Amino acid sequence: MKHIIAPSILSADFGNLQRDIEMINQSEADWFHFDVMDGVFVPNISFGFPIMKAVKKHATKPIDVHLMIVEPDKYIEEFADAGADSITVHYEACTHLHRTIQLIKASGCKAGVALNPHTPVILLQDVIADLDLVLIMSVNPGFGGQIFIQNTYKKIEDLKRLIQGVNEDLIIQVDGGIGLQNITKLANAGVNSFVAGNAVFSADNPTETIADMKSLTNS
Ligand code: DX5
Ligand code: ZN
Repeated sequence: MKHIIAPSILSADFGNLQRDIEMINQSEADWFHFDVMDGVFVPNISFGFPIMKAVKKHATKPIDVHLMIVEPDKYIEEFADAGADSITVHYEACTHLHRTIQLIKASGCKAGVALNPHTPVILLQDVIADLDLVLIMSVNPGFGGQIFIQNTYKKIEDLKRLIQGVNEDLIIQVDGGIGLQNITKLANAGVNSFVAGNAVFSADNPTETIADMKSLTNS
């Protein structure tokens, strides 16, 4: 499977948002990653529909929406209408996860479920066949620039076992603390979608960093 690099808009310069979007358009990145935080599910507030529409206006690549919010069902259709290509909800935020996944699929988007670092992969057993993407959080969600949690490698192994013979085309995504230092090891472990905020936008040359990430995952 092709490796997907998804820079996180959370670390962009919002005073120069169009410039940063154009940078991603021109780069070897594959997706835009869009982190929505509500200040309830996570201890931080990021952005919502007005910024989503601004990104959509200029983006020439798919937009991968990561909802770190309670009651995501309420907003799925609106994010789909605003231009989301994939929508990922948190396992921990969904009482009726099966229903939420069906809502995402009915909206025409790829359906993803994210797991916090403490949530075991096995809890997805009964919905895994319905999913397009599983996001293994490699930090506790809420902030960019945190340290990668090493137990992520064990969870990638667990997920690979779970999808065997059931959903082998599933996109395995990691998010948090990803950079040039660990991307090759993660690709070798079986990850095929890499979210990176700080590593891209704090780099002296973000375009080159994205290109380096791309080549490190394909080597
Ligand atoms: C964390 C967000 C991430 C974040 C990653 O809660 O879901 O997408 O932007 O940031 P870095 O790559 O800086 O760890
Ligand atoms: Zn994210």
